Amino acid sequence: MKIDNFTCNHDSDFPKILKAKWMWLSNEYVRPYEVEPYYTGYSSPQFKKEFELQGNIKRAIAYVSALGAYEIHVNDRRIDDSYFNPGWTDYRKRLTYQTYDISELLKNGNNVITASLGDSWYRGFIIFHDRNYGDIPLKLLFQLQIEYEDGTWEIICSDESWKGGTGPIVYSDYQLGERYEPVECEDDSFYCLPVVSEWDEKLNQILVPQLGPPIRVHKIMDLFVVTWLNDSTVVLNTHQNISGFLSCELYGLSKGNCITLEYGEMLNADQTVYTANLRTARQKDYYVALGRDGETFTPHFTSHGFQYVQISGISKEIFERSTWKAVALSAGCERTGFFTCGDEKVNKLYSNLYWGQVDNFSAVPTDCPQRNERLGWTGDAQIFCGTGCYNMDANTYYQKYCMDMADSQFDNGAIGDVVPLLYGTDGIVFFEKGNGAWADAVIIIPWKLYLFYGNIEFLKKYYETMKRFITFLIENAVNHVYKRADYGDWLSVNEETPRELVAAAYAAYDLSLMEKIAKLVGNKEDASYYHEQFELFKRAFNREFVKDDYTIYGDTQTDYLLILQFHLAMNKKAEKEFAKHLVRKIEENDNHLSLGFVGISYLMPVLCRYGYSKIAYDLLLTESYPSWLYSVVNGATTIWERWNSYTIEGGFGDIAMNSFNHYSLGSIGEWMYSGCGGIMPDEDMPGFKKVHIRPYSDVRLRYCRVSYNSYAGMFESSWKYEGDKVKYEFTIPVNTEAYIYLSDVISVRGATFCRNEDGTEVYLAEEGKVTFEVLYKM
Ligand code: BGC
Repeated sequence: MKIDNFTCNHDSDFPKILKAKWMWLSNEYVRPYEVEPYYTGYSSPQFKKEFELQGNIKRAIAYVSALGAYEIHVNDRRIDDSYFNPGWTDYRKRLTYQTYDISELLKNGNNVITASLGDSWYRGFIIFHDRNYGDIPLKLLFQLQIEYEDGTWEIICSDESWKGGTGPIVYSDYQLGERYEPVECEDDSFYCLPVVSEWDEKLNQILVPQLGPPIRVHKIMDLFVVTWLNDSTVVLNTHQNISGFLSCELYGLSKGNCITLEYGEMLNADQTVYTANLRTARQKDYYVALGRDGETFTPHFTSHGFQYVQISGISKEIFERSTWKAVALSAGCERTGFFTCGDEKVNKLYSNLYWGQVDNFSAVPTDCPQRNERLGWTGDAQIFCGTGCYNMDANTYYQKYCMDMADSQFDNGAIGDVVPLLYGTDGIVFFEKGNGAWADAVIIIPWKLYLFYGNIEFLKKYYETMKRFITFLIENAVNHVYKRADYGDWLSVNEETPRELVAAAYAAYDLSLMEKIAKLVGNKEDASYYHEQFELFKRAFNREFVKDDYTIYGDTQTDYLLILQFHLAMNKKAEKEFAKHLVRKIEENDNHLSLGFVGISYLMPVLCRYGYSKIAYDLLLTESYPSWLYSVVNGATTIWERWNSYTIEGGFGDIAMNSFNHYSLGSIGEWMYSGCGGIMPDEDMPGFKKVHIRPYSDVRLRYCRVSYNSYAGMFESSWKYEGDKVKYEFTIPVNTEAYIYLSDVISVRGATFCRNEDGTEVYLAEEGKVTFEVLYKM
């Protein structure tokens, strides 16, 4: 299935007439390089074109796509600051092209365009091996349309008139790293290979404009020396786990000196960089010096997940004369949310989950940026999506991922567990499909986009994809219980939620969303069908898993969270009982959480909703294992994959699967905005045109300030404890309808009392500043 016309934020004006041919270097010229046994990298094909401008130009627009990633220079200047274009899609179904206005880069007279290609997701290593999308050579499509001031046009296209070569990039693999052996700038004698070109209708058919923001430089960071391991090896620390690489300007090296940069997230006890958790990813760059002062090295088609870098092959003197910067990359989404409170450890937790998003917002939302996965796991994406949308304007970013999900849809309607799908060298699809809490992303993410951005058009466009998926769930359920869940409440500790229960709860939840979505897209018939199905699934869930005493099969914290969060209880009494069981389970677990990727997201909102916000804050502030702050007090700068990725007693967790930059357990971010700050969108007037502000405060934080810059304007919500009062202050943008929910109000400015709801006072706020004083009962 193909979905077109997604919102895209590039002003793309697809060439009315595509003239360019796809060009490449024949396989015989691409040099293999044995990185180490079993891992071969390939030299980067490079292309060069010189041309004369015929007069003064009005504008020059370049359209570019590739099989593989491309980097283009016009007169020695990078075409723009984005990386790894054309990004990652299912290259068998869709390939994006990018549009660049390069008028400023051209000059009168002679102009030179050079292009390099890297293996990237198209042909490089991903998880077990390379070439997941086939063994076709890397190819470039380039079309430059020049409009002269006198109204005439000229088109420069990729074709066999370009010169080809394999230059200084010996290999550059996204996961393995890069080896770079520069040549003198004026020496371009390597452009001596013939270029092959061909019109490729099949590829042209799958071209679509850039979707969502490309990967850009997020931040340039300083590095600090940890230690010199010996005379020629130094270990550096960025103080922040990032996704990117080092960029350096070198002085004092002799021709042929090779420096090695090895990247990792942690240090071993002997202060060497810890790489045991990378599995088959290598994260090593090599630079062979020219011996010229001021030579620079920035890798081209590789990225590393790291906080530490071990540089070898360099003396102290050369190190000090040279400059070293860490470059953090991320898909360029604008920041929209801020959180700060009176507890520095909670602030650090917030910073860690924010950075988790920065680092994992790659061409697709990834599970992690360092080991050999870096995959678009649907479960991780859906559980973090709410947090992601508060932190950043992630509208087009997630829309692009939704398109990837649609491309991953199987004939029976199931969605892949990783998106884009990987095909493997022999055409076998990697990973499973249709698993509970993972594949449901295909409904949950578009629903979040509707809530956050009011994007109903997107729901309409995407409706058929969601419908096919929900049909798959209905058809594969046995007596209205869908049971497929390979992962369940992934990486929970101390207890395991029955996996089929997770799948069954999610399927019912999906149906409740589909009922709303069908109404929104104007399909009443579907809406009533999904309503009936939801009722059947809900009843079946209760029949299958709930006992007479309101305990649930498995009796885990996540059990109770799922039934409450997804509104699957049969009545109010049952709801209250489930909430009590949840509290019992927390107490039985020594007042600690036991949750994995799934349950964790619902813990805080559910506890607060049922009157247990004190317990929610107890858990937030717990520092002993397992807890959010456990990683914080142990030095984390991002969210760890496991509660015990590292423990003081046990050291590093299981190296078979242990990342220090997995954002899923950081999905508490959504509650920090919507619980601590209380800012929540409304289903009927989405995009924050109508807002419910229900802050849960706690004296142990002393104060809290949250802001969210929505499409409807900037909302701010803050509270602070002062004597026997809690002082609240809100900022409400114009043309929005904001309801504020508080209890024991002493004074109000800028809001009118509306009603009482179960002991909570509800106020309608005016625009601008609104303040409340509330009695603090100790
Ligand atoms: C990934 C996860 C993913 C999981 C599925 C792991 O290897 O890193 O984040 O969701 O597999 O269970």
